[in-house]
Amino acid sequence: MLSKTFYITTPIYYVNDAPHIGHAYTSLACDVMARFKRLDGFDVKFLTGTDEHGQKVEKSAEAQGVAPKDFTDKVSQNFRDMAAQMGYSNDDFIRTTEERHTRSCQALWTELEKQGEIFLGAYEGWYAVRDEAFYTESELTVGPDGKKRAPSGAEVEWVKEPSYFFRLSAWQDRLLAHYEANPDFIGPNSRRNEVISFVKGGLLDLSVSRTTFGWGIPVPGNPQHVMYVWLDALTNYITAVGFPDQSGDYARYWPADLHMVGKDIIRFHAVYWPAFLMAAGLEPPKRVYAHGWWTIEGQKMSKSLGNVISPSALVERYGLDPVRFFLLREMPFGSDGDFSHRSMVGRLNTELANDLGNLAQRSLSMINKNCGAALPVPGPFTDEDRAMLDPARGLLERLRPAIDNQAFNEALEAVWVQVRAANVYVDRQAPWALKKTDPERMGTVLYVLAETVRCIGLILQPFMPASMNRLLDQLAVPADQRDFSSFAKALAGGTPLTAPQGLFPRYQEEEAAS
Ligand code: MSP
Repeated sequence: MLSKTFYITTPIYYVNDAPHIGHAYTSLACDVMARFKRLDGFDVKFLTGTDEHGQKVEKSAEAQGVAPKDFTDKVSQNFRDMAAQMGYSNDDFIRTTEERHTRSCQALWTELEKQGEIFLGAYEGWYAVRDEAFYTESELTVGPDGKKRAPSGAEVEWVKEPSYFFRLSAWQDRLLAHYEANPDFIGPNSRRNEVISFVKGGLLDLSVSRTTFGWGIPVPGNPQHVMYVWLDALTNYITAVGFPDQSGDYARYWPADLHMVGKDIIRFHAVYWPAFLMAAGLEPPKRVYAHGWWTIEGQKMSKSLGNVISPSALVERYGLDPVRFFLLREMPFGSDGDFSHRSMVGRLNTELANDLGNLAQRSLSMINKNCGAALPVPGPFTDEDRAMLDPARGLLERLRPAIDNQAFNEALEAVWVQVRAANVYVDRQAPWALKKTDPERMGTVLYVLAETVRCIGLILQPFMPASMNRLLDQLAVPADQRDFSSFAKALAGGTPLTAPQGLFPRYQEEEAAS
């Protein structure tokens, strides 16, 4: 059993929405991290799933005239399908309507109650069903239609009902002390500052049960109440490691190494969740990272604008790996960014087809044609050769800190520095001209190129698993030499190679117009 573990989670998705690229994005980032860590020798647990309780889901089921359970059984499948379409390597898929989850939530609730952290009272205030969140009067704005709205733009309604409360107000200092003692707990820094100032502003006790609808987990001992959907949802992260059993997977994987979330749900993960856990005597996660949001061709993605992009449509049009590459390459992970057809095609044609695709294709074709379809045996390396090989073999050391910081676009930029340098090297060394003048030197140059491409192929596997697998096949890299301990296992000269095949076809604009 591997000694280093890495537990990473996506948010669990509300099933009332069809999967779109916003959802695909959060999970993709987790998938890349999970794959990276596995290749780097970690025992990884990668969790995703669906958030199926609450008023919002109940209302969607009602609107379709079906019972909530039947509704969620049907629509949660859409998110499983998305995981398959996007090539995610999740180890588990949790649904909050599963029995294991009810047990876990009720056990957490019972513990919180036992610790005196939950008390019965009455809630009177604003609630936004779309966000499943409570708001104070001072947080609201009045929209152009005269209606009060949450900061997210969601409509709010006045709620008045008996409710259990969690003593969040008592956790302000302990949360601040936790942020202080664990500077990496929240990333990026801008979000960390935002959370700290929110907590410094004072915390109100949090309503954690509802009585005016029934689609949720019953409160132990008082089944008129169902648990607040965020308490239910957040608990999924410990359910999946076996809570309330604290041996086995819980002992092995908890606390989670990383909860990946979008910027809209940082407060739930970085304030409420660690408070719930600490109050129950459990450890908080090690890190919560909040990424930015995508707009589409400059506009907010919304059903009413009709510009919602489904991951499957995107994959069908551009291919899976180009989509995976684009989403993490285009913008810094913590910032907002815009999706446009033009930038997608630009990256595909320039960075994938031209830069990387051509590098692999021309190196391998020259080997195929001029070296008897076998890897050449290199002669002595020159300084220029070493200036190519050393940084290629050092890619892992350069990428590790970027990946640990969720700086995916920086990681990809570091690889592309190498890709571009290799293209400059081919042009300068001109192996085609050496064919007649110095065939031995030609062999060395082509070997250096093949070895560089191997290292690039290895390090890009988490981002573009299928294409890099094909590339490594073309280099005849054995299956057991593709993990990250294999950087130093240089290609063996003389190994026969199959005829090369293009990796990334150029996207033809004519097709785009149709
Ligand atoms: N069910 C809650 C999460 C509970 S986790 C214990 C939820 N679900 S969601 O389906 O609405 O959103 C899931 C994720 O999708 C969030 O991280 C959110 O930020 C992300 N995105 C939704 N729209 C997005 C974009 N337009 N761009 C990028 N990510 C976006 O919240």
